[in-house]
Amino acid sequence: MSEIYTLSNKNGDNIELLLRQGTAGPSALEISPLYNNKGLLAFDPGFVSTASCESSITYIDGDQGILRYRGYPIEQLAAKSNFLEVAYLLIHGELPTRDQLSKFENIIIHHTMIKETMRNFFNGFHYNAHPMAVMIGVVGSMSAFYHDSIDIHDPKHREVSAHRLIAKMPTIAAACYKHSVSEPIMYPQNDLDYCGNFLHMMFSTPCEPFIPSKLAIEAMNLLFILHADHEQNASTSTVRMAGSSGANPFACIAAGIASLWGPAHGGANEAVLKMLKEIGDVSNIDKYIARAKDKNDSFRLMGFGHRVYRNFDPRATIIRNMCHKVLKETSDGNNPMFELALKLEEVALKDQYFIERKLYPNVDFYSGIIYRALNIPTNMFTVMFAIARTVGWVAHWMEMIADPSQRIGRPRQLYTGSVERNYVPMNKR
Ligand code: CMC
Repeated sequence: MSEIYTLSNKNGDNIELLLRQGTAGPSALEISPLYNNKGLLAFDPGFVSTASCESSITYIDGDQGILRYRGYPIEQLAAKSNFLEVAYLLIHGELPTRDQLSKFENIIIHHTMIKETMRNFFNGFHYNAHPMAVMIGVVGSMSAFYHDSIDIHDPKHREVSAHRLIAKMPTIAAACYKHSVSEPIMYPQNDLDYCGNFLHMMFSTPCEPFIPSKLAIEAMNLLFILHADHEQNASTSTVRMAGSSGANPFACIAAGIASLWGPAHGGANEAVLKMLKEIGDVSNIDKYIARAKDKNDSFRLMGFGHRVYRNFDPRATIIRNMCHKVLKETSDGNNPMFELALKLEEVALKDQYFIERKLYPNVDFYSGIIYRALNIPTNMFTVMFAIARTVGWVAHWMEMIADPSQRIGRPRQLYTGSVERNYVPMNKR
């Protein structure tokens, strides 16, 4: 049920705004009439109190540490599902039947190859280019290869584009890695599942196949599920904003990858590993905690804090448990970097600065330690995030395009520049 919310100023001038209720979470004031009726704008840098759209894909309650995809708790999906089933759920809204899932898996498997000419693109990049930089370029180029599916008004085109993006992302990601180590790019293998196929393309060579362990595939599935969506985060909002102008899906996802790369977002998993290496030893923790608290020092505890989670990030808890499992198999549980991360978390969680600001480990704090144990190089961590988040980006893009009330995204501003002034000739400046 909607109710009316009245805003008034000190002169008794009122405006009535609709308070819209979702199915869960905070209500939202519909402020569009503010400008039309009163010439006023809402000012909310960083969109702290702004719902940019309606969505029925993912729900987060940051105070309770709750994350649900299409209503299903993340803990249940992490324990019982796999990545492609979650992808189907996010895109279609319901868990698939056995038949629907096997059809979906079959479609994805048969879209994993990239065009032979696209493979040539990789050679244009210097071997030491960051894989995220290569990925932005190559994914952006997909609209040049698949222009048979970029009519966004045709539901069939939208579906084929979605399948192509989800299917080809691991192939492109692994090719980015192979290029960086000067090894031949591997073709996908259709008898492998999504995660197994990715590990094959990463680590097999034409001379020797790589057979991933069951645990490596399990861990990869888990990480991909946990990273698959997170409602209106920076990269998803970027995809929606780019898509709101009618841009094609490949261009929109390339924009999302660019946004994800930043260290405050998906780039944090790489930054965490670099930070742990820099800290080096538990004896240095106090020094780095002091630096994180010092407002004159730009150092932040990477993998800590979140705009929405103010209690704990449920994804971090699940990943921490998987970390124990993976490290037990790969290094008999003996991993100095994991020990350092656990100690760092313990010290920060007891520190008044972190307690007052409700800063907890986020999804990125432990994910890199698992990737590292699986021999994924540090500069590929954010690429891994991008593979998984492509599903969320695609789901949001499809939801947005199918929404009849969708309009181009066009925020306004509070102008603080010069008022009108006259042009000054060069000799008078
Ligand atoms: N280390 C030290 N201080 C911090 C940290 C941190 N990691 N995070 C926030 N703070 C402090 C910040 O200085 C501020 O203090 P004060 O109120 O005294 O000025 C307060 O906590 C609130 O921080 P904020 O920057 O206003 O919070 P935000 O919601 O705008 O930013 C964040 C959220 C995730 C960008 C931020 O916590 C951060 O930079 N964390 C480190 C990077 C990171 O781990 N990012 C991954 C996020 S989860 C995955 C994803 O989104 O992709």
